Amino acid sequence: MKNLELNIDNVLPFVSKEVLEGYQELTSYHIRHLHQRTGKGSDFLGWLDLPSKINEESIVEIEDAANELNKKIEVMVVIGIGGSYLGAKAVIDALSHSFGLSLNDRSFPKIVFAGQNISEDYTGELIDFLNDKSYAITVISKSGTTTEPAIAFRILRKHLENKYGPEEAGKRIIAITSEGRGALRSLVEEKGYRSFVIPDDVGGRYSLLTPVGLLPVVQAGFDIRQLIAGAKKMEEMTSPEIPFWDNPSAVYAAARNELYRQSPKTEILASYHPKLIYLAEWWKQLYGESEGKEKKGIFPASVNFTADLHSMGQYIQEGQRNLFETVISIHNPSREVLIPEEADDADGLNFLAGKRIEEVNKMAELGTMLAHVDGGVPNILIRLPELNEYYLGQLMYFFQKACAVSGYLMNVNPFDQPGVEAYKNNMFALLRKPGFEEETELIYKRLNK
Ligand code: PA5
Repeated sequence: MKNLELNIDNVLPFVSKEVLEGYQELTSYHIRHLHQRTGKGSDFLGWLDLPSKINEESIVEIEDAANELNKKIEVMVVIGIGGSYLGAKAVIDALSHSFGLSLNDRSFPKIVFAGQNISEDYTGELIDFLNDKSYAITVISKSGTTTEPAIAFRILRKHLENKYGPEEAGKRIIAITSEGRGALRSLVEEKGYRSFVIPDDVGGRYSLLTPVGLLPVVQAGFDIRQLIAGAKKMEEMTSPEIPFWDNPSAVYAAARNELYRQSPKTEILASYHPKLIYLAEWWKQLYGESEGKEKKGIFPASVNFTADLHSMGQYIQEGQRNLFETVISIHNPSREVLIPEEADDADGLNFLAGKRIEEVNKMAELGTMLAHVDGGVPNILIRLPELNEYYLGQLMYFFQKACAVSGYLMNVNPFDQPGVEAYKNNMFALLRKPGFEEETELIYKRLNK
């Protein structure tokens, strides 16, 4: 297996091949519109050919910025929320040692994230952690005005300036934001911070292959050239000339739309590797923000097995039948850890002695899939040959392309997120933000009732 493979054999007991074949024309119509930039939200299609368009100069610029700062720091704080942090976090977690050890001979700064919440404990404890560390900040916000990262940046910038003085602090800040507009861009111009641009035609959740995702991934010591190469391969594998059954994004979009049409309203992304927990978080944002609108959309949920077989397994097996499952399977994990023999065989597991833990994990995966299919849960399988930059690039581009097609099949604009403003408006009214006087009065009246 050289590329990502999509297997829908365990959807076919629920949806016939002929029915899926019926999506051929429709998906090819939507993929054509996507590429001709004539579908909904076509102002936000910059991500579509990023893998093939990104040039050597931009890659070198990102690598140089990271390498220069990495020489003098132990910790890089990446500030951002939603699409401005999840892609990088997903890739970094998937590739990092689970206990923070270096995976190669070079050492790289520890990457920590901030501005993805407004928890006082988190922020206070981050400051405790940073007090005696040499650190720098990468602040990422397309709009430059998002409350969570803006608060974190205010606090940490002050901390950095107090620690190093304004001049050195300025050299330890990199900003990634829109070109020519927004509060963060103005600050970059005022303070002279090094900066990168988030293209106007790329939305947050599709921004992995812009500096938003690439810079933190290089800062963590991973190979963005391989990430881009993998995505480029998937760009080719999902291009308009590829026939339906050979295009994994088209088949995935068709299968999940047909299941949704028939009844399941929740898709559970499952994997058997804890390193992929944040990949699932990234996927949930991608599909949740892209499809969840106009009272439509598949609810994206996630589980990490086998841990969650001991919590969510019961529901998936026997609860309300409104689910389907998409499993990410890694064909060849890189480690080899064998199960030892025990003289007294007290736990009765000597039949596993000498086997790799992964063999047990794989049989758990296969056994669970069969049990869930028997329990009425359709199963889509995505197989990756290995967990590395190249295949993550394939996987994440595959999901982005499928999400765009899937959104078009649902007849929604997969590139906007009007609903996220509602909580912000209430929060600003409650906090008595100037300009929100009317909303403030209304919301306090409502709460006092
Ligand atoms: O996908 C999106 O567009 C959003 O999730 C944004 O990325 C998120 O709200 C952060 O926005 P910004 O980068 O403007 O701070």
